[in-house]
Amino acid sequence: MDLTNKQIVVTGGAGLIGSHIVDELVREKARVIVYDSMIRGKREHLDHAIAQGGDIRIVEADIRDRDALHDVMQGTDYVFHQAASWLRLCQENPRLSLETNIHGTFNVLEACVEAGVKKVVAASSSSVYGEGLYLPTDEKHPFNNDLFYGASKVANEQHYRAFYKKYGLDFVAFRYLNVYGPRQPHEAAYMDAIMHFLNRIDAGEPPVVRGDGTATVDLVYVADVARANIMALKSPVTNEFFNVASGTETTIKELALLLIRLCGMEGKLQPVFESMDSGLVARRWGDPAKARDMLGFVTTTPVEEGMRRVIEWRNSKKNQREDT
Ligand SMILES: NC(=O)c1ccc[n+]([C@@H]2O[C@H](COP(=O)([O-])OP(=O)(O)OC[C@H]3O[C@@H](n4cnc5c(N)ncnc54)[C@H](O)[C@@H]3O)[C@@H](O)[C@H]2O)c1
Repeated sequence: MDLTNKQIVVTGGAGLIGSHIVDELVREKARVIVYDSMIRGKREHLDHAIAQGGDIRIVEADIRDRDALHDVMQGTDYVFHQAASWLRLCQENPRLSLETNIHGTFNVLEACVEAGVKKVVAASSSSVYGEGLYLPTDEKHPFNNDLFYGASKVANEQHYRAFYKKYGLDFVAFRYLNVYGPRQPHEAAYMDAIMHFLNRIDAGEPPVVRGDGTATVDLVYVADVARANIMALKSPVTNEFFNVASGTETTIKELALLLIRLCGMEGKLQPVFESMDSGLVARRWGDPAKARDMLGFVTTTPVEEGMRRVIEWRNSKKNQREDT
C-alpha cells in the first residue's frame, strides 16, 4: 500500500508511540495530522519529523471534543488512535478514564465512520490481561484486569468489534507490552524505574528497586512498535487484536544491572531493594507469535541496544539544557 499523500490522523501523535508513528509516516510521504491535547505530548517530539520535511499539521484538541474530531476526519484516509489517559491517571481519576478513554475512543470511531475512514490502527494494552494466569500471555488469555485503565481498554476493544460489525470500519488493535524509548514520559510505572535508575546512577548513587526486583517486564522498543503499526495498516488483516511483545521477560533487577553496566558503573554500584509495592504486575511476558504469523511482525531491537539509545537521548537532552 502506497501512503504517499494519504491523509492520516494520529491521535496522541505528540506522545511516545504516536510521535514515532509520525516519523514512519513522514518516511512514507503521507500528509499527517497530529491530534493531541498535549496533556502529556510535546511539540518537540515532532521536531525530528518536521526536520525531515514532513507534511505535518498539529491540531491541539481533546478526543472528548466531538466537533473537533468531526472536522479533523474530513478527507482522512486512515487513523492511528493512540491518545489515552495513562494507567496511574485512570486509577487516580476513574471518571476521567471513562470520559477520555472510553467516550473519547467512541468519539474517534464515530467520526471515522462519518468521514468514511478506511482503517483504524489502535492502541489497546496488555493491561487487559491483568496478572497473567499463564505465561507467556497470548491473545486468547482472559481479561483478568481489575484496574480502571485496563477496563477502559477492554471496553474499547469491544467497541472496535461493534463498529466493525455495524459499520464495516476496519481495524487492528495492539496490546502493547512495556514500550520504552527516546521521548518516553517519566510517569509510567516501569518507565519511571528506567529514569529513576539513570538519575541515581548519574549521581553515583545505587538505583533503588521497589520490591524484591523479581517483577518482570516485556520490553519493546518504540521504533519496533511504530513499525508494527505501519505493517498493520498496510496489511489486509482486520478485526483482530495482537500483542506487540518481544517475547522475553526482564526482571527489574536485571534492568537495574543492565543500566549500571551501560553507564560504565559496573562493580561500582549495586541496586538496593526497598520493600514497597512496585505497582507492577508480578510478571509481564507476551507471546509474539500471532503478530509474527499474521502480520509478519517481529521486534528487532534488543533491550541492550534500545536502552543505549534511551541513555543517548537522555544525555542529549541534558546537554541541551546545559547549553541554554
Ligand atoms: N507505552 C506503553 O508501554 C503502552 C503500553 C500499553 C498501551 N499503551 C497505549 O498506547 C498508547 C500510546 O501510549 P504512549 O506510551 O505513547 O503514551 P503517551 O502518554 O506518551 O502518549 C499519549 C498521547 O495522547 C495524548 N492524550 C492523552 N489524552 C488525550 C485526550 N483526551 N485527547 C487527546 N490527546 C490525548 C497525550 O498528550 C499524549 O501525547 C496509549 O493509548 C496507551 O494507553 C502504551
